[in-house]
Amino acid sequence: MRIDILTIFPDMFKGPFDASIIRRASEQGIVNIQIHDFRDYTHDSHHTVDDYSYGGGAGMVLKPEPLFEAVEDIRSKANAIGKPRVILLTPQGRLFNQKVAGELSKADWHIIICGHYEGIDERVREHLVDDEISVGDYVLTGGELAAMVVVDTVVRLVPGVLSGESLLYESHTDGLLEYPQYTRPEDFRGWKVPEILLSGNHAQIAKWRREHSILRTFMRRPDLLEKAWLTIEEKHMIAGL
Ligand code: 6GU
Repeated sequence: MRIDILTIFPDMFKGPFDASIIRRASEQGIVNIQIHDFRDYTHDSHHTVDDYSYGGGAGMVLKPEPLFEAVEDIRSKANAIGKPRVILLTPQGRLFNQKVAGELSKADWHIIICGHYEGIDERVREHLVDDEISVGDYVLTGGELAAMVVVDTVVRLVPGVLSGESLLYESHTDGLLEYPQYTRPEDFRGWKVPEILLSGNHAQIAKWRREHSILRTFMRRPDLLEKAWLTIEEKHMIAGL
């Protein structure tokens, strides 16, 4: 998977993508993440990327030319991969979640534009961008942190990045939150690991985990239960809670 990120703050990406799983995925050649400063695509001496809003009002608006030129340049240099999906990160986008991440993990090439909340020229939305994504109902100063969230979530779903096992049972994959987990010691300050997890009875353990997954989701995120995949028995169990 290739990911090109367009930003006016390239330095923000130095730490996060140089550590841990993303770094390993890059080193193994599973993903190729390129950060581009779209200020480099300006032609005036001040390297202007924003300007006043037509019609007046506070806040600057990102100009279209540097973004169009950046996307067109990246596309022309890497056209062997096919056609990239151009994604704009903006609080106006569709809400990002595990399902959207799964969808994005299937494409070979993304160009991600980090917007800034003051605004972006509407022609970028209309004629350059294929998809608009928001990471939540709150306002960030820019799309950079959102890009890190999206890239991290998507890259770990790309085949080969994690072991298949670790993806299978984690929170949100089946629409439920994860069950409680314990490791050694068996007794920590008098707080004991539930007996059943020590029993070696895999069927009983699976049952316990499933029940606690549902219980935890009911307590913390009841909104998720409506879309979760549940058996008739499980639905009865929830109705009784
Ligand atoms: Cl993608 N950008 C900004 N600036 N704020 C956000 C966001 C994106 N998603 C949630 N808040």
